[in-house]
Amino acid sequence: MMQVKTTETLLPTPQGIDRAAEILRSGGLVAFPTETVYGLGADARDDLAVARIFEAKGRPRFNPLIVHVPDIAAARSIAVFSDAAERLADAFWPGPLTLVLPLRPSARLSPLVSADLPSVAIRIPAHPVAQDLLRAFGGPVAAPSANPSGRVSPTRASHVLDGLAGRIEAVLDGGFCDVGVESTILGLTETPTLLRAGGLPVEALEACLGAPLDAPQPGAKLTAPGQLASHYAPAAPVRLNVTRPDAGEFWLGFGPACAAAPMTLSANGDLVEAAAALFHALREADRRAAPGQTIAVAPIPDHGLGRAINDRLRRAAAPRP
Ligand code: TXA
Ligand code: MG
Repeated sequence: MMQVKTTETLLPTPQGIDRAAEILRSGGLVAFPTETVYGLGADARDDLAVARIFEAKGRPRFNPLIVHVPDIAAARSIAVFSDAAERLADAFWPGPLTLVLPLRPSARLSPLVSADLPSVAIRIPAHPVAQDLLRAFGGPVAAPSANPSGRVSPTRASHVLDGLAGRIEAVLDGGFCDVGVESTILGLTETPTLLRAGGLPVEALEACLGAPLDAPQPGAKLTAPGQLASHYAPAAPVRLNVTRPDAGEFWLGFGPACAAAPMTLSANGDLVEAAAALFHALREADRRAAPGQTIAVAPIPDHGLGRAINDRLRRAAAPRP
């Protein structure tokens, strides 16, 4: 996998914006300002680029990411908008609000973006530099906050560099972020539910909807659907850390030691490639496994992206409800 050496600092001039869009198009990572915090952006349709977000941040699990688009037409091509969603979008976009809506499969986002959920978090940022970048790029940009996992979100380009210099291709320096806290996240796949308090006051949302919001239940599915033990497990049983499959098991390999496997997450043992392939591979293995066959997954090293891969594989192998 490509190792980044120097992180370019780009100015928000037409040249800087074009360069940033070109980096996104070539599968690279660009941190960019929004009115809330700096985001770490990648092409949301590119599996490898999205896998590299998790690698750069050192995220230990594949939690879903927010997709950034420049306008409502782009948003509607990715998610299904209810009347309530249309009303909220009209009132608060562009702005510090993220809506979780049913995902349109035709959007062809990388399954890593939505953690393979049937929903997607989407937002139209108001920051002019974010707008310029999204328009120049012309596609959906997946972006979590541009900080290493577990650290505070960055509100200046220098904060981004403190945490991620040498790990990402570029940061687009647009000065400081006005709002300074992350967007408010509202789940609309069921009754409107506050998933994260943030830059847009809850009262404003309730006034627009004309009703109080449901607070997330502790441990509720909506808060963190990807956390459910057996969420989106394949239909076939899954067995982990298999170096020698039993007769009748469908072997999903990793690395040169598993050259005999009919399918692999990465033939040469590249964790970024394996992360990019993971959700596709589980579905494909499920299709190819014969009825009653177990999917036997090769050991994945438990460092870097391997930790997130193992987290997800353990869920797939967990006892089913
Ligand atoms: O202000 C912000 O929201 C910033 C800027 C860059 O836009 N982004 C941000 O992203 O804070 P991040 O990755 O730190 O937070 C995204 C959160 C996830 O942790 C998850 O809780 C929620 O959004 N989320 C994303 N997709 C979801 C989905 N399909 N269902 C439920 N929650 C989802
Ligand atoms: Mg964050």
